[in-house]
Amino acid sequence: MKILFVCLGNICRSPTAEAVLRHLSSLHEVDLDIDSAGTAAYHIGKSPDTRSAQAAKARGMSMQGQSARQVSVNDFYEFDFIFAMDKANYDNLLALKPPNGSAHLSLFLSEYGQLNYDEVPDPYYGGDQGFELVLDLLEDACEQFIQKKVLP
Ligand code: 4NP
Repeated sequence: MKILFVCLGNICRSPTAEAVLRHLSSLHEVDLDIDSAGTAAYHIGKSPDTRSAQAAKARGMSMQGQSARQVSVNDFYEFDFIFAMDKANYDNLLALKPPNGSAHLSLFLSEYGQLNYDEVPDPYYGGDQGFELVLDLLEDACEQFIQKKVLP
């Protein structure tokens, strides 16, 4: 099963989602192919934001080796699931989606997660609390994704 998380810059939310799902898939001993990308091109090739990486590390998750890339039309043929972090990301992905692309595209928190959010708020211009909230939301939703779609 191939899963792609998408946000705007691919340096905060979607690489965090990638790290969280990788961590949980290892705990559950399930084999998933996980990647992330951004709708924008500003940060191509950059490592995750140090604030995201530090917050993830404090919860025992590594974001090492990740490098930002931009989402492409080909991703709609490569991945089974493409999960947008917020509604603007979702709208941009919908505009890019080829008619015969096989990926299931959705707003991640509208389908998974039990906290009262339907978007992962962009933490880039805010304080540390925003990065903790990103982790809280993604840990909750990724666990539910595994329970609903991955585990037998
Ligand atoms: P992300 O956060 O979409 O979660 O990676 C952002 C990163 C960079 C910018 C905005 C959001 N930016 O404007 O450069």
